[in-house]
Amino acid sequence: MGQPVVETTDLTKVYDGFTAVDKLNLRIDEGEMFGFLGANGAGKTTTLLMLLGLTEPTSGSVRVGGKDPTREPIDVKRLVGYLPERVGFYEDMTARQNLFYTAELNRIRRAEAAERIGSLLGTVGLSEVADHPVNTFSRGMKQRLGIADIWIKEPRLAFLDEPTTGIDPNGVDDILKLISDMGKKGITIIFCSHLLPQVQKLCSRVGILAKGHLVADGAIDRLGREAAGAGRYRMEAEVDAAQPAIVDVIRRVEGVRDVEMTGNVLGITADKDLRGQISRAIIDSGALLVGMRVEEYSLERIYKRYSKEA
Ligand SMILES: Nc1ncnc2c1ncn2[C@@H]1O[C@H](COP(=O)(O)OP(=O)(O)OP(=O)(O)O)[C@@H](O)[C@H]1O
Ligand SMILES: [Mg+2]
Repeated sequence: MGQPVVETTDLTKVYDGFTAVDKLNLRIDEGEMFGFLGANGAGKTTTLLMLLGLTEPTSGSVRVGGKDPTREPIDVKRLVGYLPERVGFYEDMTARQNLFYTAELNRIRRAEAAERIGSLLGTVGLSEVADHPVNTFSRGMKQRLGIADIWIKEPRLAFLDEPTTGIDPNGVDDILKLISDMGKKGITIIFCSHLLPQVQKLCSRVGILAKGHLVADGAIDRLGREAAGAGRYRMEAEVDAAQPAIVDVIRRVEGVRDVEMTGNVLGITADKDLRGQISRAIIDSGALLVGMRVEEYSLERIYKRYSKEA
């Protein structure tokens, strides 16, 4: 475990009597890639805004890199690269000029900035339009520029609010690669997204918000096991021929809780990983075992199970 670089204690935001974030306790360690999930209106963006000092908490406290964003917003902004839901740039300025402006704000020397900007524009695939004004850019192009804008200041943390929305499929791969590279550099990342396969690919840990409450927080595999039923494992065995008798054979294996057959595939729920015992039981029954695997926990299933809570 590293050091917590983001820590909230009973963090709450009330907008005109409506509680958008409710006593949130979040702890993110240095270098973690944290997936922040939740339905529309769950409170993700509001949380990020409080972490950045862009909106004041109604109650509770926040620390980002040991600093209080409400009292030391400038220090926090220096530590964090933020990609908002809708990226805003100086529209009359070119992509390159916008990045120079960010570099200047972050006190990066001009010569060094020039070099970094040239290479970054290439990385995000904007070299050809580097000197076009941003008002000619599509949404996806602005999003790419937003990622470059974060990289330029080499932040300790990056808060990415739906970074791949509106990006074409090849572009999505590029952007996920950029985010993964940020993670490898040790940048702590909060990744807000509704695109669960992307989150599953990048993040080891997720938090799920529902109506301002954190209803799940943990490693994807642990949450998956919980979602499947307290500590249960799901396995799939494929056999050569679907004989109903096999279902009974497997049910008799100690620790097996449930068996269902769909075509030639048996879905088995058990207290632990019983692949060895189950394979033996299938073979002993005279059937041919074609394949056997422990089901990977899909984030989709975890999400559906938890986001209904609250
Ligand atoms: N400035 C505001 N004034 C009043 N209510 C607000 C304000 N900003 C957000 N809200 C409300 O707070 C709740 C949480 O909104 P928030 O934008 O944090 O959700 P979100 O999880 O980011 O959703 P999405 O996935 O749609 O981006 C919503 O009900 C929203 O209407
Ligand atoms: Mg949002």
